[in-house]
Amino acid sequence: MKRQLLKIDHLKKIQNAIFAMTLTGDCSEISAPGQFINIKLDGFYLRRPISIYSFGPDFLTIIFKVVGEGTKALAEMQRGEFLDVLMPLGNGFDTTKGGKQPLLVGGGIGVPPLYGLAENLVDRGIIPQVVTGFNGRDDIILTKEFQVLGIEPVITTVDGSAGIKGFVTDAMQAMTFDYVYTCGPEPMLKAVYDAAPDGQFSFEARMACGFGACMGCTCETKYGYKRICKDGPVLYKEEIKW
Ligand code: FES
Repeated sequence: MKRQLLKIDHLKKIQNAIFAMTLTGDCSEISAPGQFINIKLDGFYLRRPISIYSFGPDFLTIIFKVVGEGTKALAEMQRGEFLDVLMPLGNGFDTTKGGKQPLLVGGGIGVPPLYGLAENLVDRGIIPQVVTGFNGRDDIILTKEFQVLGIEPVITTVDGSAGIKGFVTDAMQAMTFDYVYTCGPEPMLKAVYDAAPDGQFSFEARMACGFGACMGCTCETKYGYKRICKDGPVLYKEEIKW
């Protein structure tokens, strides 16, 4: 993990309040999909943790939703400006531990890190199934991007305005899979936990330091307390205490 300045190369609104930002610089230490960066913004005391959508040795892309003043300030930055970033953070997904028929389940702004995971699996010759869940049609993101990878995501919306009406677990009932990778809000993770034979779960948490020093993001697992930022954000089904 190191602190560095990354240059904003691209910033675009891709959906209601959702933006994609590509940053250039030394990204060679990023080792797994599901890792995240912690961004310092002028005028804000706490950094903002944002998961990595896609990455290479000299770039990374984040997709984030404007949910408050910090993310609003991030969305208002300009191409060519520099961001103070701590990275890479967290363990990320381990794609060598999945089953033969992996299923990726993402909810809302939890979908982007699963795209990087899908890229990784496809590179290794594994075409996963994907379920994405949103509140409504206007919240849907990344469908085309998964299609370019050769994956047709099964879309669910709570209001039924697109795809299957209901939750991601409604789509999962009709699918065959032996392992689940998932990222999204905690109620969704809990529902997926009950429907998954085995898998890896990426958690969201309020964070301060982002690298394991402050203990502000601890959660209790079957094997004691773990820090979501450092020991996670990905936890394995067998260690989660629900
Ligand atoms: Fe400080 Fe996780 S945010 S230990």
